Amino acid sequence: MSKIVILGAGAFGISIAIMAAEAGHSVTIWSAFESEVESILSIREHKEKLPGVKIPESIGFTSDISCISGSDMVVIGVPSIFVRNVVKQAAPYITPEMIVVNTSKGLEDGTYLRMSQVIREEISDSPIVVLSGPSHAEEVARKMPTTISAASEDEKAAATVQETLSNGCLRIYLNDDVTGCELGGSLKNIIALCAGICDGLGYGDNTIAALMTRGITEIARLGVAMGARLDTFFGLTGIGDLIVTCTSLHSRNRRAGTLIGKGVSPDDAVKQVGTVEGYYCCKAAYGLSRKMNVEMPITEELYKILFENGDVNKPLASLMSRPSRHEREQTLV
Ligand SMILES: NC(=O)c1ccc[n+]([C@@H]2O[C@H](COP(=O)([O-])OP(=O)(O)OC[C@H]3O[C@@H](n4cnc5c(N)ncnc54)[C@H](O)[C@@H]3O)[C@@H](O)[C@H]2O)c1
Repeated sequence: MSKIVILGAGAFGISIAIMAAEAGHSVTIWSAFESEVESILSIREHKEKLPGVKIPESIGFTSDISCISGSDMVVIGVPSIFVRNVVKQAAPYITPEMIVVNTSKGLEDGTYLRMSQVIREEISDSPIVVLSGPSHAEEVARKMPTTISAASEDEKAAATVQETLSNGCLRIYLNDDVTGCELGGSLKNIIALCAGICDGLGYGDNTIAALMTRGITEIARLGVAMGARLDTFFGLTGIGDLIVTCTSLHSRNRRAGTLIGKGVSPDDAVKQVGTVEGYYCCKAAYGLSRKMNVEMPITEELYKILFENGDVNKPLASLMSRPSRHEREQTLV
C-alpha cells in the first residue's frame, strides 16, 4: 500500500483519488480552500465539480499542505494556472524519494513551459511522471474503462506509477516522450474550443472531422519542432485525447467554444463554464508558435477570437481560403 497525496480537490483530483483508493492505497486530497474541504466532507461529494459521485469514506481531505510529509507519491491536480504557486507551497515537504505526478494540462503564460518543466523548476530532485490521455473525470470517477499514459524520463518512476494506479478500470501505458505527451494533452484543448465554436455556429460533422485532423497536424508540427516524437501524437495523449475532448459534452473547452459560437463573449464563456484550459493554452501556444516559427493556422484564428476581439464568423472562411497545399507534412517527414 502506498501513501498518496493529491493536490487539488476538483474533478480530476477526486477521480484520481477514487482510482488510487480502488487500488488499495491510502489517499489524502489537499485543497487550498478550507471551505471546499468542509463542504466535501459534509456530504462526501463535490456538488459543483463532480456532482453525483460519492467519495469513499477512506479518502481523507485537508487544507494543511504538510500532509505531504511521509508520502510516496504527490499528484498535482490543480488547473495549470495554479500549478507553480501550489508546487511552491508543496516543495518544502517533498523529498527526493517521493514521485511527483503531474495531471495538469497547459503551458505557462509567458515562459511557454510545460507543467512538468514548471514543477522541475520548483522541485529539483524528485522524479516527475506525467499522466495524460483520454480521461474525463466524470467517467474515471464512475469507474468506466479508461486508458492513459504515464510518461517520464525516469523509467522506473513511470513503471511505479503504472503499477500503483492501475486497476480493473484504469489501464496505464508507459511512454518516454514527455514533451510529446504533455504537448498533445495541452494543445488539444485549443482544438476542442474550436470544435465547440463550429458546433455553436451550426456546422456539421465534416467540419469537426476536418478540424480534428488538421488540428492534430498542427499540434504535431509544433511538437516535432519542440523535440517530441511524431508517433506520440497518434497515441493516447495525442489523437486519443483530442477525440475525447472534441466530441464529448463533458469537455468544458468544447462547452465554452459552443457558447462563443453562439455569440457569448470569450470572457463570459470562460466565467460560465469554469476551468477552460484551452483559453490560456491558446495564448501560450500562439506565442510559442511564433517564437518557433511554426505555422499553426487554427490556433492563430482562435487567438484572434479570444484575445483580439475577432469576429467568430470569419475564421472558417479564412482557413478554407488558405493557399492550396499537399496533405502530407513536408516538415515532418
Ligand atoms: N476534468 C478532467 O476530466 C481532466 C482530465 C484530465 C486532466 N485534467 C487536468 O486536471 C487539472 C485540474 O482539472 P479539474 O478538472 O480537476 O479542475 P476543476 O476546476 O474541477 O478543479 C479545480 C480545483 O483546483 C483547486 N484550486 C482552484 N483554485 C485554486 C487556487 N487558486 N490555488 C490552489 N488550488 C486551487 C480547487 O481544489 C479546485 O476544486 C487541469 O489541468 C485539467 O486539464 C482534467
